[in-house]
Amino acid sequence: MASPLHASALRASVDLEGVGAADAFDRFVSDFAGSLRARGLEFIPGDRGRLDEGGAVVGKVTRWEPGRAVEIDWRPSSAWGDGSKSKITISFEPLDGGTRLVFETDAPAALLGDRGPLLSDWFIDEVLAGATQAVSPSRFATWLTDRRARKPAGVEARTTYRDPVYHRPNFKAILHRLDLRDDDVLLEVGCGGGAFLSEALERGCTAAGVDHSADMVDVAREANRKAVAEGRLEIREAEAESLPFPDRQFTCVVCTGVFALVSDPAKVMAEMHRVLRGRGRVVLFTDSEELRGTEAAPEPIASHSKFFSDEELVQMALEAGFAEAEVERPDLGPYAREAGLSDELVRMFSGPGQCQLLLAQNA
Ligand SMILES: C[S@@+](CC[C@H](N)C(=O)[O-])C[C@H]1O[C@@H](n2cnc3c(N)ncnc32)[C@H](O)[C@@H]1O
Repeated sequence: MASPLHASALRASVDLEGVGAADAFDRFVSDFAGSLRARGLEFIPGDRGRLDEGGAVVGKVTRWEPGRAVEIDWRPSSAWGDGSKSKITISFEPLDGGTRLVFETDAPAALLGDRGPLLSDWFIDEVLAGATQAVSPSRFATWLTDRRARKPAGVEARTTYRDPVYHRPNFKAILHRLDLRDDDVLLEVGCGGGAFLSEALERGCTAAGVDHSADMVDVAREANRKAVAEGRLEIREAEAESLPFPDRQFTCVVCTGVFALVSDPAKVMAEMHRVLRGRGRVVLFTDSEELRGTEAAPEPIASHSKFFSDEELVQMALEAGFAEAEVERPDLGPYAREAGLSDELVRMFSGPGQCQLLLAQNA
């Protein structure tokens, strides 16, 4: 016999192996707000937390039990005049060796006032179609590229970019070619968690960083809070294609691990040229096509990235207005050693240069 219809119209869960309930809860607190913000909802976590939409309170946290469950009541929909109430419950059920993260809601039936045909329409349109799209391989690839590299967000990304060990040899190679002086005013385009800026600031310069990921901007500010407080560093959330600075503000620009991911590389190059003054210089680090599919440029990110020949990079810099441009292919082994990486990693970075270091300068 079929079971009776349940008051909870929608239930979805995922089993997380090796993630304890407390950890799963902390990840939820840390990431849910950012994910909702991207969808136009503001979530304020905590036992007096709430959900805002367009500046109005639309939901209230009615249960907040760290490591166990959160309940949010949607406010009655006064616009509909019927005062319909609905609820979301997110719970963290301990499993053997992990946690079951469960989402439950009675909202569809409560708000639609229908348990049959309209509910079916809604479910097919909003849930089945949405979930089918969400699990398509191409959507996963796009999501992973964004999360890991193109617009990093979430706990994993924040941890990785706080100390991007595998980028440290690149930073050393850039610093070597940039030869920073204390009167330099540096801009880093796509600064991630600000690890390169921390190293650069040790040379005594002043600096700014831009990144279009809100999470990365937070990590970069936190990692460099002393320099920010002293007014030596400014971090802005902005697009590389439209830098939020007046012309001729900087003496040098660095862009590392970013150029492959931007939507309009020529525009970014032109922007880097625009904000430079005097004999301003750019040092741009990117992976060559030879690295496609390796650990440096793994799939599926590689297939969402752009690769350039040395000639294309030079040509783009000259077309943007730089007077001189050349590409070097440094052996990163010595820089990996300078960065204090293990012997095994030094070996991994050693060998004929497969990364491109574009050096471009104004007359
Ligand atoms: C692979 S990470 C590299 C971060 C840092 N440069 C490093 O080497 O550790 C790429 C960074 O570029 C940023 N980014 C990508 N496209 C961008 C764009 N169009 N405007 C601003 N930032 C961008 C991402 O948000 C991300 O933080």
